[in-house]
Amino acid sequence: MTGHPGALERAVPLLRCPQCTEPVAAHTNTPSPGVAGPRGARDPGAGITGIRCAAGHSFDRARHGYLTLFGPRGRRFPGDTTDQILARERVQGCGVFDTVAAVLTGIAREQFVGTVRPVGTPADSRLAGPGGSRVDSPTAGPAGSRTVGSGPVVLDVGAGTGFYLRRVLDGVRAVGGPGRAVGAQSPLGIGTELSVAAARRLAKTDPDAVALVTDTWDALPLADESVDLVQVVFAPRNVSEFARILRPGGILVVAGPGPGHLEPLRSDVGMLTAEPDKADRLESGLAGSFTPGRAHVVDESVRVSGAVATDLALMGPSGVHLDRGDLERSLGSADREIRVHVEVRTFRPAR
Ligand SMILES: C[S@@+](CC[C@H](N)C(=O)[O-])C[C@H]1O[C@@H](n2cnc3c(N)ncnc32)[C@H](O)[C@@H]1O
Repeated sequence: MTGHPGALERAVPLLRCPQCTEPVAAHTNTPSPGVAGPRGARDPGAGITGIRCAAGHSFDRARHGYLTLFGPRGRRFPGDTTDQILARERVQGCGVFDTVAAVLTGIAREQFVGTVRPVGTPADSRLAGPGGSRVDSPTAGPAGSRTVGSGPVVLDVGAGTGFYLRRVLDGVRAVGGPGRAVGAQSPLGIGTELSVAAARRLAKTDPDAVALVTDTWDALPLADESVDLVQVVFAPRNVSEFARILRPGGILVVAGPGPGHLEPLRSDVGMLTAEPDKADRLESGLAGSFTPGRAHVVDESVRVSGAVATDLALMGPSGVHLDRGDLERSLGSADREIRVHVEVRTFRPAR
């Protein structure tokens, strides 16, 4: 069985039954002695085969490591296709969205400065902040008061293959520095997805991450106030659920397309024009539950090959309407400039 069962063991206390919202416990088989985990040590969760609530609702862990947790309405949508997921994986793998990942990582690091820290480091010491700058740990939100030994919980909703979740977890771990006790204070990442093709990759993305196949439009299978940071990157949102699961002092990070995103490719090949995540529209949708914080804009020109341009067109919502052969013929192999225009906004729970 693949996936990261050690992370799953840490996640189980945060999970709730998607059928009845009650707490769940892991069901296990006995792991063979000395099963090696991703960090080389014996993995304490290696025997977890699924979860079960007191009412007897039971959910098996897939061979690929993810847990499928649908509520009473079951699965209603398939999520992204394998072709879309593979195209996105290739695009993200060649650096097109590295600046977006860096912005998300910077926000998470700033949020958790003082939370993940080297063992024996006083709580008020100075730690590296976003961009390598030095910031005072008291600038962290109330989440910074977390007890040493429990790492922050990062939820990536509609996480795809886990590209951004992995970068953020890497960044949060780096705040802790080399003296940090591995395992004791590691962040925990939870990625949710509807697409099984994405979830298979998500389950393997990072030793500190677990993958859940679940529908954002339904109740999320997580306890109240169990998450420190929720990030949503180009994916559907569920505002009331985000407000319910975020801890006081937590943060919601929403990344979406700006009006010039992927131009001129978007116009050239007739990609669907996603409604840009206009600040006022986004904020009115969150009003009452969240107050807006800082906004960051990534706006840069990136040079990509014809093959990457084809993947960029196919990886999004237009991917199911466009034909790869037609795109390859019209785009050819020559390099082209593409605008990456992404708005990243932060919000605090309004309670
Ligand atoms: C445009 S992709 C973004 C993926 C990832 N956040 C990224 O930026 O690489 C949107 C993702 O949301 C997933 N998705 C769509 N509707 C969903 C829903 N109702 N619940 C959970 N995931 C959903 C899709 O399968 C897809 O992988």
